[in-house]
Amino acid sequence: MKRVAILLSGGGSNMVKLVESMTGDHPARPVLVLSNDPAAGGLSRAAERGVPTAAVDHRPFRGDRTAFEEVLHARLLEAAPDILCLAGFMRILTAGFIDRWQGRMLNIHPSLLPKYRGLHTHARALAAGETEAGCTVHEVTADLDDGPLRGQARVPVLPGDTAEVLAARVLAAEHLLYPAVLRRFAAGDLTPVRLDSAAG
Ligand code: GRF
Repeated sequence: MKRVAILLSGGGSNMVKLVESMTGDHPARPVLVLSNDPAAGGLSRAAERGVPTAAVDHRPFRGDRTAFEEVLHARLLEAAPDILCLAGFMRILTAGFIDRWQGRMLNIHPSLLPKYRGLHTHARALAAGETEAGCTVHEVTADLDDGPLRGQARVPVLPGDTAEVLAARVLAAEHLLYPAVLRRFAAGDLTPVRLDSAAG
């Protein structure tokens, strides 16, 4: 049974779907939900579901990423995870941390990578006149939002879409994609998951 730690910074809707998917014959179980923000809503949503939680507040480290990551890494080791899932984790990780987890760490990004790495993906896709959008689950490497692709879900861009409306449509696809990718990844299957979700 693989042990999964989920890292988040916000509400944790992706974490909830991942946790709720790890039941029955699923080859993994959640062992920790960890946030860089002690006030993250996802921490209480994890606790409500019986998942151990922890917070390592990044602010006292005043930008010393390595020092923050040393504490983060030590706290993770206490839970002995086999897999890390970044799910709305909004801190950039250094190559030093990534080297220690590479091959065991996934992230979900709200665009069809390699398009629209970075932030504000939906506004940028709309500004570019894209007719479709979506989300990508990839392995985390030192190149930001650029590791090996493990899953992708496509959604249509509809006339009159705002960034908020498109974000909600993509988020619904994220909630289908990430659990599907984690189940395969935990089973050692690296075949990318491809979803073309309904107009939604
Ligand atoms: C999602 O938009 C995801 O694509 C991005 O951060 C957001 C996470 O939302 N990585 P939530 O905290 O899982 O609700």
